[in-house]
Amino acid sequence: MSELATYLPPASLAASAHVSGMEAYQRLCAEAEADYEGYWARLAREFVEWKTPFTQVLDSSQAPFFRWFADGELNVSYNCLDRQVAAGLGAKTAIIFEADDGQVTTVSYEELLARTCRMANALKSLGVKKGDRVVIYMSMSVEGVVAMQACARIGATHSVVFGGFSAQSLRDRIEDAGAVLVITADEQLRGGKQLPLKSIVDDAIALGGCDSLRQVVVYRRTGGQIAWHADRDRWLHELTEGQPSTCEPEWVGAEHPLFLLYTSGSTGKPKGVQHASGGYLLHAALTTKWTFDLKPDDVFWCTADIGWVTGHTYIAYGPLALGATEVVFEGVPTYPDAARFWKMIERHKVSVFYTAPTAIRSLIKAAESNDAVHPRHSDLSSLRILGSVGEPINPAAWEWYHQHIGGGRCPIVDTFWQTETGGHMITPLPGATPLVPGSCTLPFPGIQAAIVDETGKDVPNGQGGILVVKKPWPSMIRTIWGDPERFKKSYYPADFQGRYYLAGDGAIRDEKTGYFTITGRIDDVLNVSGHRMGTMEIESALVGCTELVAEAAVVGRPDDTTGEAICAFVVLKRPRPSGDEAKAIAKQLRDWVGKEIGPIAKPKDIRFGDNLPKTRSGKIMRRLLRSVAKGEAVTQDTSTLENPAILEQLGQAY
Ligand code: WTA
Repeated sequence: MSELATYLPPASLAASAHVSGMEAYQRLCAEAEADYEGYWARLAREFVEWKTPFTQVLDSSQAPFFRWFADGELNVSYNCLDRQVAAGLGAKTAIIFEADDGQVTTVSYEELLARTCRMANALKSLGVKKGDRVVIYMSMSVEGVVAMQACARIGATHSVVFGGFSAQSLRDRIEDAGAVLVITADEQLRGGKQLPLKSIVDDAIALGGCDSLRQVVVYRRTGGQIAWHADRDRWLHELTEGQPSTCEPEWVGAEHPLFLLYTSGSTGKPKGVQHASGGYLLHAALTTKWTFDLKPDDVFWCTADIGWVTGHTYIAYGPLALGATEVVFEGVPTYPDAARFWKMIERHKVSVFYTAPTAIRSLIKAAESNDAVHPRHSDLSSLRILGSVGEPINPAAWEWYHQHIGGGRCPIVDTFWQTETGGHMITPLPGATPLVPGSCTLPFPGIQAAIVDETGKDVPNGQGGILVVKKPWPSMIRTIWGDPERFKKSYYPADFQGRYYLAGDGAIRDEKTGYFTITGRIDDVLNVSGHRMGTMEIESALVGCTELVAEAAVVGRPDDTTGEAICAFVVLKRPRPSGDEAKAIAKQLRDWVGKEIGPIAKPKDIRFGDNLPKTRSGKIMRRLLRSVAKGEAVTQDTSTLENPAILEQLGQAY
């Protein structure tokens, strides 16, 4: 890695950056080292406006259930909206919204505050109270952000469910969270298509088990036909009409749960990652400011969906807490063509652009096969900083992003973090850190990331190991909703005597620079297009198709565009199919998984066998399956394999 090119921060950017130069970075790290609590307390006073100032910083008495700033009181929506208006930014554009069809609307801070208050009052009129859980199942929209802010305003805990999840997944989340209300839209518009949302909510409720749910609030986006249940469905515009445009914020303790966000683990059902208010807001604002060197006249665009954590921290909260102007985009990068992102950067004079490697890789392919969508036809001179998130970015994609989007002048911040971490953990700072393509470089100041072996002992640089965080940090996951034992087992396992946070990724540090490179998950979690999927979840969806499937095993394999692709090995209850019959069954199984979990979980490859490769003691040989999925010649020892003949059968993917 150390032989790879190193890019220094441009001098002008470095000179004016919030964190200017490596000495400044090191000073911050040293400050945290010398007085860990003092460092975070200083920043918490600087970045958050407290109704009641905190007197305690870190409370480790119930470790690993850490608490931060626990006796402080605040309101997150107040910090994002009222604070900006009070500072004279009321007329400043908060959100530039670009719809799927290209229509642009802008919303000022004043308006965003008024709309948030009206929605908050509407929620209150339906009896939603502090501590209630509200599920938000919406596409990218100003209303989606307003819904999150409105929940925060009244102290309700939101749980946003990505609009691509199925009725079954939505149902599971409503039930697990015990949500009293769902906020949705009639339909969503993506890539010129109208896709259902409300009808999926109806299906979710019809599946049963949503006993806690009282009402469904519907935002009219397309005006498409939907079924109406007068006893529980309410139009958002009718509810907010006539509501006052002010709403006293509900002051909550710093540890009050701001949101739950469900994510995949290596076993069992998705887990509801619970985040607090104070520490989360601090890190959202702090990382938005330092990692993106955000300045008052920047136009920030994070292309994530609010259904993922990136859309929480870097759309709904971080930029607003800083009074920034941000772009919110309803559509997809390939509609009306694959130049959409580049044209939007030009149109809105975006200066900080944050996206996922998958998007970059697929847009490289598009530009290489069709010159008309190449970024050189767009004026990208407004850009000053680029970001990457969600999965490792391969050096070739990094170089293309740097050259063709950043014009060779914009630093790329490769930000490593997770749903559980709330915000950036390992990332360059653009005015300080020399960049090495493919490396997320160094920990954010104050974050104690390290690489250890199975026993928790530090490994030397140059030697790979397990990524851990040695000290708690303010925006960390507080627990898994309703399952504190699983929280402890997943993140503070006994292997490390419960001392370290286990990220679930492997990593290696460069011998010379100490730079981190993430080597991928060490558990059974896949990362497909930057979306986290558990192999077990997909396996149980497949075997849930009881009419067809006897047994299934799911592994990941590398994919040029999506990073990883899902590969399913299936044993049917009928004789092993081939040819057209196999293709038809593979389609049927993909549709089934799409219905059970959502289209993002559909296996790319399906391979049929009379059996799965197992050891004589009956264990599925996953390592072997991973080789088969990659199309590698199997060089492993197969002497323990019960039935070596099936390797041949599994060679064919449908
Ligand atoms: C992976 C997304 C390499 C990693 C914010 C992590 C990354 C998982 C990077 C979390 C990166 C995220 N380089 N890998 N810059 N960023 N990952 O919860 O495996 O959806 O554990 O959060 O994505 O995914 P999640």
